[in-house]
Amino acid sequence: MAIIETRCLKKTFGKIEAVRGIDLDIEKGEIFGLLGPNGAGKTTTIGMLCTIVRPTSGRGSIAGFDIARQPTQVRRNVGIVFQDPTLDTILTGRENLELHARLYGIPTSVRKAWIEEMLELVDLKGRAGDLTKTYSGGMRRRLELARGLLHRPAVLFLDEPTLGLDPQTRARTWEYIRKMAAKEHTTVMLTTHYMEEAQAVCDRIGIIDAGRIIALDTPANMIDSLGGDIVAVAAPRPPLEAIRSLPYVSAVKMNEETVEISMKSAHLHLAEILSLIPDVISVEMRKPTLNDVFIKLTGRDIREDTVENGGGWVEAAARYNQRGR
Ligand SMILES: Nc1ncnc2c1ncn2[C@@H]1O[C@H](COP(=O)(O)OP(=O)(O)OP(=O)(O)O)[C@@H](O)[C@H]1O
Ligand SMILES: [Mg+2]
Repeated sequence: MAIIETRCLKKTFGKIEAVRGIDLDIEKGEIFGLLGPNGAGKTTTIGMLCTIVRPTSGRGSIAGFDIARQPTQVRRNVGIVFQDPTLDTILTGRENLELHARLYGIPTSVRKAWIEEMLELVDLKGRAGDLTKTYSGGMRRRLELARGLLHRPAVLFLDEPTLGLDPQTRARTWEYIRKMAAKEHTTVMLTTHYMEEAQAVCDRIGIIDAGRIIALDTPANMIDSLGGDIVAVAAPRPPLEAIRSLPYVSAVKMNEETVEISMKSAHLHLAEILSLIPDVISVEMRKPTLNDVFIKLTGRDIREDTVENGGGWVEAAARYNQRGR
């Protein structure tokens, strides 16, 4: 049985259909990414699965426990890192973890050892005795990750875990997430706007738009569905017929002065292609991204804020806070 399962899960807020019937089967140990524009329903979906938001209809379960009928058991099995930081800044890093350990009833016999283990994992041992308000943004995020995993939940939900961090800290945070997931066989469901990162870190991705999952697959399969890499060559007289007749070329398109050639494993064919084209001015080889997948499916860019009724992570974070944790 899937560790996260939903069937026709829906949530409406008055007239707003935030989530319009979602079916998911996520296996134990999987890192699953929910990717979509502002207001698509990502935070609402996670909220329902964590029992913070009550579904309007449909059902869902975590580790076999029903999210509507068995919220206590569900909560015991999940860890959450919210879109908005929620640490107590007048406590030290270690105290924040101690507080969480008490709230979750982690037995005193293992409490200290588990806390030290988590601090070690996120490289915060040296600063664990300092007040959290003296931490940098990246250190706080790491402490939140450690806290989310401290009670060893079967499922960890991460809502925009790297939002606002610098690229290096983002890369390291993903490293921690992967390391932690591997160590405890934790199932991770995350949302992110950083598509390259979702591509690199997730086993499977669900693209969500206006409350519906419009694609669900491995990042590699999604990208393959676009017909491979794109080689863009600027040249005055590209021999289009000769290029088209190459067996590995899946599409050829003229874009002003540039010929765009799609193929799988472009790096293997680049030399042959260039040998066919006289007077090359410039060459660009690029892999399609998940954003290209999103554009193909919806006709627009994932980064455009497409939902009129609010959206935006600041508002979403504020709503999370209002929901009363
Ligand atoms: N408590 C609420 N009351 C009213 N509308 C809500 C509430 N929570 C969410 N919504 C609406 O539901 C829709 C989905 O919001 P949600 O926060 O799930 O989106 P999201 O995909 O997480 O977006 P973002 O990328 O901006 O975080 C939006 O139209 C939002 O305005
Ligand atoms: Mg959100």
